Amino acid sequence: MTSIHAFWLAGRQTTGETTLDVTSPWDGRTVGKAAVPTDAQVEEAVAAAYAVRDEFAATPAHVRAAALDHVSRRLVERTEEIAQLISAENGKPIKWARGEVGRAVSVFRFASEEARRFNGGEAQRLDTDAGGQGRLAFTRRFPKGVVLGIAPFNFPLNLCAHKIAPAIASGTPIILKPAPATPLSGLLIGELLAETELPAGSWSILPVANEKMPALVQDERLPVISFTGSEKVGYAILDSVPRKHCTLELGGNGAAVVLADFSSDEDLDWAASRIATFSNYQGGQSCISVQRVIADASVYDRLVPRVLAAIEAQNTGDPSDPQTDVGPLVNEDAAKRVESWVDEAVQAGAKLLAGGKRDGASYAPTVLADVPADATIAVEEVFGPVLTIKKVDGEAEAFAAVNDSKYGLQAGVFTHDLQTAFRAHRALEVGGVVIGDAPSYRADQMPYGGVKQSGVGREGVRFAMDDYTYERVMVMTGLDL
Ligand code: SIN
Repeated sequence: MTSIHAFWLAGRQTTGETTLDVTSPWDGRTVGKAAVPTDAQVEEAVAAAYAVRDEFAATPAHVRAAALDHVSRRLVERTEEIAQLISAENGKPIKWARGEVGRAVSVFRFASEEARRFNGGEAQRLDTDAGGQGRLAFTRRFPKGVVLGIAPFNFPLNLCAHKIAPAIASGTPIILKPAPATPLSGLLIGELLAETELPAGSWSILPVANEKMPALVQDERLPVISFTGSEKVGYAILDSVPRKHCTLELGGNGAAVVLADFSSDEDLDWAASRIATFSNYQGGQSCISVQRVIADASVYDRLVPRVLAAIEAQNTGDPSDPQTDVGPLVNEDAAKRVESWVDEAVQAGAKLLAGGKRDGASYAPTVLADVPADATIAVEEVFGPVLTIKKVDGEAEAFAAVNDSKYGLQAGVFTHDLQTAFRAHRALEVGGVVIGDAPSYRADQMPYGGVKQSGVGREGVRFAMDDYTYERVMVMTGLDL
C-alpha cells in the first residue's frame, strides 16, 4: 500500500481529507501520497504562525541555533534515504540527489552559525552634529512578519531548506509550500524539525494546492513572500500584492563565455567538460544551468567538438543508477515543451549538432548552433538539457551577447586574465559572475538572485535573514559619550 506523507500544521503531523499522488518521472510509479490540508487547516496554521511571532522573535539564539544544528545532523544521518526520495519524486540522478542533501546539510549548519551571530546590534554615534550631542543610535533587526515560502520542484529539499533555515535563524515564523510535483522531500524536513524544541506555530509545511494560493498570497498576516519558480507566476504574485515584501528567484538562461585567452588544450577540455555537465545536470532544470555558450572565434572551432564529445560521454537513463548523469525531466509535458522549442529553432534554420530526441519525459542532451535570435529557445529559459552555441569576436561582443537577454541570474566567464575578470564583473548584468567555470556554481552561503526578469532580492542564508527582517533603531539620549 502506498504510504501517506502527513503535512506539518504548526509543527504537528497532520492529515487532511484528500491526498496528492506523487509519481516518478522516470517510470511513472507512485512514490507516495502527500496529505493535502483543508482550508480550515491552512487557516489554523496561519493563525498559529501569526500568534507566535513575538514569542518566536524573542526565542534565545541558542535554542534556534540548536534546532538548526539538529536538522543539519539528522540530514547527514539520513542522507541516503533522503537522496533516494529526492531522486524518486523528482527524477534527479542519485548522484546529484546526494549532492543536494549535502547542500541542505550546509544550509542548516550555516543558518545555525548565523543565528548565533545575527542581530548583535550595532551602535552609531550621533554627536557628529551639535543636535546629536550625547546621543547614540543602536540598531537591531526584527522580523517583518510571517514568511510565506513557495518552493519549486527542481531542488525539492534544498530550496525548501533555503526558505526555512533563514526563517528559524532570524526568529521569523514560516508557512512553507513545497511544489505539488515534489512535496515529499520538503515534508521530510518537518520530521526533523518536529524533533526540536521550536515553539508550536513557528513553522508549518503545507502542500497547499496551487489554485488555493492566491488567497494565501493576499493574506495580510503573511507580509513577506519568498518565491522560487517561474517568471510568470513570480510576477503575477508581485503584481497582486505590490505592497508586500516579495523575494522572487525566477528564471535564467545562463551564459558560459569562453574567451580567447582560455585556449590551451587543457583549458578547452575543462571548459567543455564543465559546459557539458552543467547544461544537462538535473536535465537542465536549474535556473543557472548553461543554456548559452558564447565562444570567441579564435577558440570556437576547437571548443565545439570537445563540447560534443563531453556531451556524448554523459550517461543518460535511470536516475537510480549511480552511473547516470542525466535523467528525465519532471514530467512528459515538460519534455514535450523542450522538444517543441528545439523543433521550432531547427525549422527556423538552427543547426542541430547533438540530441534533439524525446523519449517520454526524457529529452536527449542537445546542442544547437546558428540559432535565430528570435527563436523561443534563444529568448526564454529552456529549463531542459539544451544549449546553444554562438561565435563572437572579442570580449566586448561576448559581454554584449550575455546581456542581450531579458534574464540576468548568473554568468560564467572562462578567462585567466584578472583585468578581464573585473571587467566582466562590472559589465555583465547578472546577480553573479563565476570566473573560470560555468554559471551553475552556487555556494549556499553566498548571495544568490538575479536582475532584470530573473527576480528581485537575494537568498543565501545570511541574505535571506536580512530579507526577512528589518532594522529598527533605538536612539539613546543624555549619554556621556
Ligand atoms: C535554482 O534553480 O534557482 C537553484 C540553483 C541552485 O540552488 O543550485
